[in-house]
Amino acid sequence: MNEKLSYQVTVNGVAFDVDADRDANLLSLLRDQVGLTGTKQGCDDCECGACMVLVDGRPVNSCSYLAVQTGGRDVTTIEGLAEDDELHPIQQAMLDHAGVQCGFCTPGMIMSAHALLETTPKPSIEEIRIGLSGNLCRCTGYQSILNAIGSAANAAD
Ligand code: FES
Ligand code: FES
Repeated sequence: MNEKLSYQVTVNGVAFDVDADRDANLLSLLRDQVGLTGTKQGCDDCECGACMVLVDGRPVNSCSYLAVQTGGRDVTTIEGLAEDDELHPIQQAMLDHAGVQCGFCTPGMIMSAHALLETTPKPSIEEIRIGLSGNLCRCTGYQSILNAIGSAANAAD
């Protein structure tokens, strides 16, 4: 039987007491225990970036990250970006620039972009490409996504 571990994790500023299998991944913790399904399960093998979230501000593929490693740490998911009824500027830019098609890759793309703009507020197009290199879009709308992230960066002061 898989051993259960109890610990506390803060998700989008809210502390949760969780009781999870020792080998549970962060993606399942978020979706199945915390109830936040904005983070997507794609490849489940660290290849597509659909499951990207931030742990203490750093982007991680939650499908390949042990949930227990987040004990006592801060996790940010796509649900944590908007404030009240106002979308985060990156979310708004993705809509404005038609960076969303089926939308499956979108949460992960936005989380990677968010992490990029935190460290590189005015990235070049090449830096944006590198920042999003871990995120795949099967609808292949890459140019619109690049335009959206560039626009969000330029709009920020
Ligand atoms: S689902 Fe995690 S990288 Fe694809
Ligand atoms: S918008 Fe469909 S996978 Fe990217």
